[in-house]
Amino acid sequence: MRTAGRLVLALSALRGVYADAAWQVYYPKDSNVIAATLPTTTVTTTASAASATQTVAAYNMTELVAPSLPSPMPSLAFGVQLYSGGMENLSIQQNGAFMGFSIEMSVSVQVCASAIHPTFLNLMANLAQRAGWVRVRVGGNSQETAELKTTLAGYSEGTILAKDTGNTTNPTNTPPIEYTSDLFTMMGKITDFTNIRWYLGVPFYTIDPVNMDIVVVGESVLGDRVLAYQVANEPDYYGYNGRNHRDSTYSPANFTTEFGEFITQVNANSSITRRSDTWMVPSISATNWNIDDFITTGLISTYKDQLYAMTVERYPNDNCGAIYGYTTVTDPQDVIASYVNHDQVTSILQYYQVSSAYAVSLDVPYIMFETNTASCSGFPGVSDAFAAALWGIDWSMTLAYYNFSAALYHIGGQAAYYNAFTPPPTAQSAYYGWTVGPIYYSALVLAETMGSSNTSQVVELFQNSNSPYTPGWAVYENGIPKKVLMINYMTDSTGSSDYTASVAIGGGTTGQTAATPSSVKVKILRAASVASKTNMTWAGQTLGDHFTSDGRLTGDLSVQTIQCDTTNNVCKVVVPAPGAALIFLDDDSYTAVTPTTTETFPTTFYTATVNTAKIDPSALAHSNGHGNMSGILDATSQNSRSSAWSWRVDIVRLITTCSVFIGAFVVWM
Ligand SMILES: *[C@@H]1O[C@H](CO)[C@@H](O)[C@H](O)[C@H]1NC(C)=O
Ligand SMILES: *[C@@H]1O[C@H](CO)[C@@H](O)[C@H](O)[C@H]1NC(C)=O
Ligand SMILES: *[C@@H]1O[C@H](CO)[C@@H](O)[C@H](O)[C@H]1NC(C)=O
Ligand SMILES: *[C@@H]1O[C@H](CO)[C@@H](O)[C@H](O)[C@H]1NC(C)=O
Ligand SMILES: *[C@@H]1O[C@H](CO)[C@@H](O)[C@H](O)[C@H]1NC(C)=O
Ligand SMILES: *[C@@H]1O[C@H](CO)[C@@H](O)[C@H](O)[C@H]1NC(C)=O
Ligand SMILES: *[C@@H]1O[C@H](CO)[C@@H](O)[C@H](O)[C@H]1NC(C)=O
Ligand SMILES: *[C@@H]1O[C@H](CO)[C@@H](O)[C@H](O)[C@H]1NC(C)=O
Ligand SMILES: *[C@@H]1O[C@H](CO)[C@@H](O)[C@H](O)[C@H]1NC(C)=O
Repeated sequence: MRTAGRLVLALSALRGVYADAAWQVYYPKDSNVIAATLPTTTVTTTASAASATQTVAAYNMTELVAPSLPSPMPSLAFGVQLYSGGMENLSIQQNGAFMGFSIEMSVSVQVCASAIHPTFLNLMANLAQRAGWVRVRVGGNSQETAELKTTLAGYSEGTILAKDTGNTTNPTNTPPIEYTSDLFTMMGKITDFTNIRWYLGVPFYTIDPVNMDIVVVGESVLGDRVLAYQVANEPDYYGYNGRNHRDSTYSPANFTTEFGEFITQVNANSSITRRSDTWMVPSISATNWNIDDFITTGLISTYKDQLYAMTVERYPNDNCGAIYGYTTVTDPQDVIASYVNHDQVTSILQYYQVSSAYAVSLDVPYIMFETNTASCSGFPGVSDAFAAALWGIDWSMTLAYYNFSAALYHIGGQAAYYNAFTPPPTAQSAYYGWTVGPIYYSALVLAETMGSSNTSQVVELFQNSNSPYTPGWAVYENGIPKKVLMINYMTDSTGSSDYTASVAIGGGTTGQTAATPSSVKVKILRAASVASKTNMTWAGQTLGDHFTSDGRLTGDLSVQTIQCDTTNNVCKVVVPAPGAALIFLDDDSYTAVTPTTTETFPTTFYTATVNTAKIDPSALAHSNGHGNMSGILDATSQNSRSSAWSWRVDIVRLITTCSVFIGAFVVWM
């Protein structure tokens, strides 16, 4: 148990280092009654604060109309036959941390400042307990002009990240970012709490020489907590539009040549000791260049020993019309149906099959480095609704089946709809909890589906005559079927569109060592409608609705145990409309991903009490992942930016805040 005495002890040791730091410790509070613990001295009324936040994208409560039932309806009862020893097209072995997160560098301090928040640590711990660890990328377009400074002149002492808004010479009109090594110190502290491993990005706008400060500092401060470095973000845009970092002849062959020059520079630089399994290229987005062209340029085959992974970025759609005020604006109601249909997922991702087979043949991992429901902030009513939770499962499982090794889901600020999680606006963080989005539920399901064994292999079942409304996958470990994951994309509150899958193993075929078990356990991901923005549950537990989460699952765990029909050798599982079901075919696979005790970080800290950070949320609409990544619109081109903004954080307070949590964590243990 925690004791105040020990907590203070841990803190006072650190106070010696940061003598001037201001900090304040609160004790954990009931996560379900955040509104009830409002500090009345600083808040006038809850209602006014709530209505103020209604204007912020991440908290839009308006729901769309769920798509009507398909006509004709798919069959609502069908069989699924699994075989021991494996099945055709079983994927490569997958990691529990398949689903990770991508955070734009320019907002990283907001996220990191928030990240130090125990809510963030709880959210990460939930995943790490199931999957072993979590991967997070800090980078994006803003990494391309990032500059390491010893101190940030003109800002208050301790500022660790700033945008040089006075500088208008940059051709994109994107203010360059300046940061100090304290950014990495902070990330290192986060890893000390939960098993997060990082990806960083090397700027590539200038190649003679490439500025490798981030590698030098990353290595010295974070060491192997940085898994790998992305070299260039979306180089397919470099010669394009307002960016003008190369001329319009810039091609995959040019990029390959330049990467060779980069490797030469790395090899000549004695400050950089990492040589192999370190770099990620080419991180192109969608359709501007063809990823298959890199097969002929030899980018991957020539440098495969130096590469950690081959990377691409892709969003299936964009909401740029609404964000940039174009005459053509996509109505979210018109696209929600495309997010609850497996054919839509397959039609986009099959583009990557050739490059994926190529990566597998070279034994180079293939990573979807930045993705989400739609670029330009996502669609209101889709990206923040239950449809996105089911879509995130489908998109991730299809990528896994196509032999990708990971998918990183982008997180913007309060202006984005697709966030897996969003801290409350800083000014209100004293009395509101976080908002956990549907993509976080997908990540929970994926973490349990893959587990921490590193031996899970995924195969798509093409079940129910390959109906796009009822996709499913089996997960094998060492030739034995362990789990089955199924989605029901239909919305029908009457229950008459729930479907029943009859799962059988072995089927009496010769050589089948595994057989249909006598019972299976089933966890259900559920909400009333694919349009629902509230009341999402995973195995009966929830992270709460808007503003209510402290990152812990609440409610009683509810797991079905289904007795199988041992005469006919089938296990009948009902998948609700809408919902997803994870079927555990044996107890070991269930217990391995079902924590009996939950590692938690007490909610002891409110950002408002130390006033760590300020940001203009509208600026985030223009960060990476907000561009038209389904096409070629340039998100950071001239005149597309909102008014200048800057970002200040008092590192002394932040580090101390960190230390508060380290102290709290140590004591909790
Ligand atoms: C909230 O979502 C609705 C429905 O999509 C939309 O009409 C409205 O403009 C959104 N409001 C804000 C502030 O984003
Ligand atoms: C396996 O993958 C190949 C190549 O994509 C495909 O042609 C074949 O139909 C797949 N087999 C099964 C059983 O899905
Ligand atoms: C994924 O890689 C495995 C192993 O090489 C291969 O058998 C399988 O067919 C690949 N999957 C697809 C969908 O191509
Ligand atoms: C402005 O930014 C550009 C691009 O990052 C840089 O080359 C230039 O030196 C900066 N100018 C000033 C005055 O800082
Ligand atoms: C190594 O890279 C760093 C960062 O770009 C640079 O400052 C340094 O001069 C380089 N050292 C050598 C020997 O090239
Ligand atoms: C790309 O390569 C071609 C052929 O070597 C060259 O003519 C062209 O100038 C290069 N473009 C850039 C932007 O480097
Ligand atoms: C799984 O892979 C991760 C990342 O490579 C590693 O840290 C972990 O130890 C592995 N787990 C097992 C059980 O091998
Ligand atoms: C969410 O669930 C609670 C408890 O079951 C119920 O009272 C509430 O009406 C539900 N809200 C919505 C929007 O369905
Ligand atoms: C995004 O790009 C795609 C492909 O070029 C294009 O079809 C679409 O109209 C673009 N969307 C917007 C809003 O510009």
